Amino acid sequence: MKLQTPRAGRNRVRPDALVVFCLAGEDGRPDLATLPKNVHDAVARNAPAKIGAEGTSCTIPLGGDGAAKRLYVIGAGKEAEISPRKARGILRSTLKGVAKNGETSAEIDFPFKLQRMDAAESRDFLLRNLALADYSFKTYKSDEKEKPSLASAWFSADRGPWKGIDGRVAAKETAAATTVVAAAELVRELGNTPACDMTPRLFAERIELEAAKRKLPITVLDREAIAAERMGGLLAVSRGSAEEPRLVVLEHRGGKKDDPPVALVGKGVTFDAGGISIKPAEKMGEMKWDMMGAATVVGAVLAAADLKLPVNLVALAPLTENLPSGSAYKPGDIVRFRNGKTAEIDNTDAEGRVILADALDYAKKWKPRAIFDFATLTGAALVALGVEAAVVFTSDDGLSRELVSAGERTDERLWRLPLWDDYKENIKSDWADFKNTGGRWGGSINGAMFLKEFVDPKTPWAHLDIAPTANYEQEFAGYGPGATAFGLSLTLRWLKDRLEGRKRGRRPARRRA
Ligand code: BES
Ligand code: MN
Ligand code: ZN
Repeated sequence: MKLQTPRAGRNRVRPDALVVFCLAGEDGRPDLATLPKNVHDAVARNAPAKIGAEGTSCTIPLGGDGAAKRLYVIGAGKEAEISPRKARGILRSTLKGVAKNGETSAEIDFPFKLQRMDAAESRDFLLRNLALADYSFKTYKSDEKEKPSLASAWFSADRGPWKGIDGRVAAKETAAATTVVAAAELVRELGNTPACDMTPRLFAERIELEAAKRKLPITVLDREAIAAERMGGLLAVSRGSAEEPRLVVLEHRGGKKDDPPVALVGKGVTFDAGGISIKPAEKMGEMKWDMMGAATVVGAVLAAADLKLPVNLVALAPLTENLPSGSAYKPGDIVRFRNGKTAEIDNTDAEGRVILADALDYAKKWKPRAIFDFATLTGAALVALGVEAAVVFTSDDGLSRELVSAGERTDERLWRLPLWDDYKENIKSDWADFKNTGGRWGGSINGAMFLKEFVDPKTPWAHLDIAPTANYEQEFAGYGPGATAFGLSLTLRWLKDRLEGRKRGRRPARRRA
């Protein structure tokens, strides 16, 4: 489905389906005033008296001179302000509904105000989520390859958050959203592709292809180069697998030449069986999504390049499988990282921090102005927050506020947990500098404390544990099953906030407390 620009007046295109939402007034009766004027009559004459109540809907054929071939009226209840996740759900179910009826084009009149977002943020959110509303991963479905009926969709111009928006601005915003959607689709595809076809080597090759298309600087370290860098953590985890590890370094140099980049580091475990500390069989298949951190960071750099953001970025993605075998690393082993520090491996299933340690240290080579890492690091993050939000860790209060705020405005919500030194006790080892687990309590924090050891305390750093939100087993909150690309828009939002010098109760990241 192609996302089209909202168009008004002479430029308006007549769609097959015009979808309007009818809100209910205080008395529970449909509030026709919330509908576009040109459909008032049709709704008043043809819609059931109860339309307006949530869950009601009707389809009205319009005449040859009508605003569309068919009008879809959907009862929207009394709330004119709704949560973004509800909006995402509405867009998905609406598009599914019109596609099922064989419509080839749909215009959506969106009357709601979105919580936590201003009008521009709402437009961006709606455009992206409309374009992704019919997303599904069909690569391996032999009989679902035929073209879906719905070819294009767009929002009504001059309505809802588009009220008073110039056509050229609307077109520009639509193009930008389409660019981000393409990156999100790539991120999702990287995640949804099963581990057999998304090994570290294949992941890296795919990104090399994307980098070549855009002429972006990219380096891929193979096993030998990783060994030459003495990345003992990444080497140790990869030893159990027949597949070689990789470290992808992808850059976008859109900023000033000497401007230090923002480094984005992403966990890329293309399959996590747990290693010798093997996971139970149940749901082990979900661990094909254990590379969503890596997918997110490369996706963010590709999107930033496509949007021509005037910033310097570097994505670092350590890639490996974590499997048990005769050559696998073992509990009790001690690994030595690139920076010379050592860790006792208490549990081979806590492998994410072991590979990220080397990548975070390697990031220092770019003297980054800030480092963010994205990782499906701990099941404990799901225990803490459910699937509604990801965890953010940082010692920088300003950076925490900026990231939480960015996430509130893209509906990729973050919740902060502490990184107090007191927790360091948990990862003490009798034999090495630290151990890679910290007991049952505060599981996500222990993971973050481990990573903290590999970051220069003077560099603003945030760790995002995206295990809760990187993928959903089933349709949830308007996301289809599978990868979500959570973190992509949030990162772009944060970068744009910085470029716009936006102050949202925070100080800029570089002036660190
Ligand atoms: N990839 C997992 C974390 C995970 C679990 C992500 C469930 C998404 C859903 C990670 O490598 C892992 O196994 N973590 C362990 C750490 C423990 C051994 C300290 C965990 O969370 O159990
Ligand atoms: Mn694991
Ligand atoms: Zn893992």
